Amino acid sequence: MIRNIALQSPTGAAREQALVIPVYKGTRKLSSGAARMDRAFGGVGAVFFSEGFSAERGETRMASIKRGRRLVHTVLVGLGDRTNATPEELADAAGAAAKLLLQHRVESAAIYLDDLFAGASLDAGDATHAVVKAFCLACHQLKPRPSARLTRLTLRTTRSARELSPAIQRARVLAEWMVRVRDWVNLPANELGPASFTGDAKRALVKDGVTCRVLTRKQIEAEGMNGVLAVGVGSREEPRFLVAEHALAKKNWPLVCLVGKGVTFDSGGISIKPWEKMNEMKSDMAGAASVIAATAMAAQLELPVRVVAITPCVENMPDGNAFRPGDVIKLKSGKTVEVLSTDAEGRLILADAVAYAREHYQPSIIVDMATLTGGVLIALGTRVAGIMGNSARDLDDMRAAGERSGEPVWPLPLDERFVAMIKGEVSDYKNYGGRNASVITAAALIGTSAEKTPWVHIDIAGTSWNDGSGYSYQSRGGTGYGVDLLLRFLEIVASRA
Ligand code: BES
Ligand code: ZN
Ligand code: MN
Repeated sequence: MIRNIALQSPTGAAREQALVIPVYKGTRKLSSGAARMDRAFGGVGAVFFSEGFSAERGETRMASIKRGRRLVHTVLVGLGDRTNATPEELADAAGAAAKLLLQHRVESAAIYLDDLFAGASLDAGDATHAVVKAFCLACHQLKPRPSARLTRLTLRTTRSARELSPAIQRARVLAEWMVRVRDWVNLPANELGPASFTGDAKRALVKDGVTCRVLTRKQIEAEGMNGVLAVGVGSREEPRFLVAEHALAKKNWPLVCLVGKGVTFDSGGISIKPWEKMNEMKSDMAGAASVIAATAMAAQLELPVRVVAITPCVENMPDGNAFRPGDVIKLKSGKTVEVLSTDAEGRLILADAVAYAREHYQPSIIVDMATLTGGVLIALGTRVAGIMGNSARDLDDMRAAGERSGEPVWPLPLDERFVAMIKGEVSDYKNYGGRNASVITAAALIGTSAEKTPWVHIDIAGTSWNDGSGYSYQSRGGTGYGVDLLLRFLEIVASRA
């Protein structure tokens, strides 16, 4: 874990164990600023240009020299194209450099930033944010190994603390919360059920000054949230429903409800899943974890927007008491749903949570984030999430937030044609509309609760989890995807006139 991040002049003393020099593609030799830093660390970096280093994004070269009794390392890392470089591309490169340092058990590193800013079209704050985020996250691994002990990072630049500090602070807080999301997602379901998850989350939220309450089964029943009850009834772990409020008293600020799917384990229920990879369904609460993190960050960063996190938390299990295919459930919205598959559980609990949001808060916007469908993984893969909704402006702003955060999203159409696919035979709706357009019909059921309230749905089933080791600053397991996206979206909403 990086505990110490300092801003320092490039000409300051070379006390760190390693120097990282980022280089855009097409660079033929080190800039004068980079060359000066390179010399302070032993002057080995300059040599790489004659050795075929082409500065493709994420390409690295490292040389180590002896200084006194210790090794000092110099790393060149390629940034790829300078024109139109995005924060996420810089983060990608920075993550590669950080992983290399970790492999060599480096404890303190300096990174030269001035070249990163020069001539690129992006904002210096955004670039710094990307680097700090990537370094902090690269240090987080599923199994913390003794080698992973990079603790100090010095950002070497001539830019002022006044210019860069807000970005550094934001990135630090973000990385902290993303790590917490990853840890929650990675925890097995026998250690993180609805009660322990919401209990943990409440403690963390209250610490950040967020008002928080957790409804128990009885209170969920009193609210008429029969979707949440039905999905949770097969488990010995009773359902919980967390509600957390940031700045609710500020009546003239816009109010955003963030709804997150909190299925702590999804066995599929009576419509049980095949055994292969079922273990990964401990991650089915990633949406809840991300909206909780984003709400806590909104409070920590004092964003001028009211935020309410709403997370239905249940375990979906088969049992003598479990809900069954054929059951008809009356949702909080008053609409009835026939259960065709108990494995299509997310939309049931989210439809209730969205109805709760509308009834209790009359929000300006509802955003729900959920590991909702396997289909989104097939459609968009592991790097881009699917978005759907009823509000063109909010969908556009969510896309902008995706670009800015490096957590991209892509829209799928959702209109009456897709709602028609889930019209019920024995009830208003059914919870499965067939294989065709399954990503969209799943969202459509949630949308029946949103009605006219502006609403954006984000399906993160593909982006929240890594099967393998993941790219750059990611690691195996939970990714923490979605926190920065939601935060950027909240920032956009806060800045609306
Ligand atoms: N939690 C799953 C979706 C999921 C799949 C998340 C893969 C992460 C990785 C969801 O509850 C589910 O089971 N969806 C099914 C619904 C179907 C049975 C109607 C799906 O999309 O296959
Ligand atoms: Zn699920
Ligand atoms: Mn399921």
